[in-house]
Amino acid sequence: MRRRRSLPAAQMEVHPVLQRPIASTAFRLLLVAVALLASTGCGEGTPAASPETIAAGGKHFQTTCATCHGADANGLPKLGKGLRMNEFVKSNGDDEMLAFLKTGRQASHPLNTTGIDMPPKGGNPALTDEDLKAIVAYLRTLQ
Ligand code: HEC
Repeated sequence: MRRRRSLPAAQMEVHPVLQRPIASTAFRLLLVAVALLASTGCGEGTPAASPETIAAGGKHFQTTCATCHGADANGLPKLGKGLRMNEFVKSNGDDEMLAFLKTGRQASHPLNTTGIDMPPKGGNPALTDEDLKAIVAYLRTLQ
C-alpha cells in the first residue's frame, strides 16, 4: 500500500512528456514558415510566370500596346518608347509595373521624356489587373 504513495512523483515525470506536443507544434510552425519562404522564392526575385500567362500577356500586348510600342515592342516614332532591354521595365518590380500601367504617364508628368501621353492601361479600360500582370510577365521576356 505504501508504495502507491509514490504516485505524485510519477505524475511529476509526466511534465516533460506533456511539453513535447508544444515543442513539436513549434517545430511544425517553423517548417511551415520555411516552406512558405521557399515557395515565395525568397530573395530570388519573382517566380517565373507560366507559359500560358506569358502567351496571354503577349496577346494583350498586340491588341492594346503594339499600337504605340510596335508589334515587336521596339517602339514607334512619336507614339511610344521601345520596351525591349528597357531600363524602366528592368528596374521596376511587378507591383510597380502594375501601378504604372494602371496610371500611365501623362505628358505633364515629370518623368515623361517624350512629351507624349502614355494613357492609363494603354487606353484600354477593359484590361483587368490579371491582364496587366500577364502583360508585365510578357515584357519580362523581352529584357
Ligand atoms: C497611345 C499610345 C500608347 C499606348 C497604347 C501604350 N503606351 Fe506605353 N507609353 C507611351 C508613351 C508615349 C510612353 C513614353 C512616355 C514618356 O515619355 O515617358 C510610354 C511608356 C511606357 C512605358 C515606360 C517606358 C520607359 O522607358 O519609361 C512602359 C513600360 C509602357 N509604356 C508600357 C505599355 C504597355 C504595357 C501598354 C499596353 C497596356 C502601353 N504601354 C500602351 C504610349 C503608349
